[in-house]
Amino acid sequence: MMRKDEGDQIEQVFSGGALRFIRVNAQDRFLHKLRGVTDPEDKRKIIGTEFVRVFEEESDKIEGAELLAQGTIYPDVVESGANQSATIKSHHNVGGLPKDIRFTGLVEPLRGLFKDEVRACGLELGLPYNMVYRQPFPGPGLGVRCLGAITRDRLEAVRESDAILREEFRNAGLDKKVWQYFTIVPDFKSVGVRDNARSFEYPVIIRAVNTVDAMTATIEHVDWAILDRITARILAEVKNVNRVCFDMSPKPNATIEWE
Ligand code: XMP
Repeated sequence: MMRKDEGDQIEQVFSGGALRFIRVNAQDRFLHKLRGVTDPEDKRKIIGTEFVRVFEEESDKIEGAELLAQGTIYPDVVESGANQSATIKSHHNVGGLPKDIRFTGLVEPLRGLFKDEVRACGLELGLPYNMVYRQPFPGPGLGVRCLGAITRDRLEAVRESDAILREEFRNAGLDKKVWQYFTIVPDFKSVGVRDNARSFEYPVIIRAVNTVDAMTATIEHVDWAILDRITARILAEVKNVNRVCFDMSPKPNATIEWE
């Protein structure tokens, strides 16, 4: 469920330092568990459970590994319905966590902080700017941007279109300005033409939003010329896609992610 080349990038950042970094390629087991599952909350809970199961299995191989540390922040807690608030969506690391977790404890130092406060802490601690200002990415990853039952062809379309969007935003300097930007692929097709023949393929939806604390958000007014270029590239380079749309919805009434 990770973005294009993200696993390699993370491995590069963490390998060779003081940490003993272990990479687990678990894509197939996640896709297997998610096969045919359409409900967004079910998908989130399956991803949350599988995420912990992978950690448990790996930690069983290491003597004395008893704690699970995660970067849970306050909006994850609020939106998962803790403290009598309404459940908006089960964040994988809170509402999506299984009850029978096999760790003696969770370590969550950021649990009481909003994203802007987390960033302020990061800078205070001397972490690199690029790491602190990396755009947020949901725990269930591209799984909640590949709408409905996840299929490999649509997951690939989300991953490739997201990579194009990020590259073009970087080229236009928008990566420094826009808070979060990504693509979504729904589970329906529309009619188009390709090489003078009828096509019946998926749309890609572009989302670009600004916010301070992710509790509310407004849309970025992206220049038409930039959207034109991104659209042309997605239609030319991404398989199984014949249409590109832009999501105009603020939060509320929408949320930032579609599921
Ligand atoms: P929504 O879609 O609720 O998203 O408006 C608010 C922010 O949270 C991110 N998000 C998540 N982050 N685990 C996370 O760590 C999750 O399960 C999760 N779901 C949404 C989302 O990308 C946005 O920045």
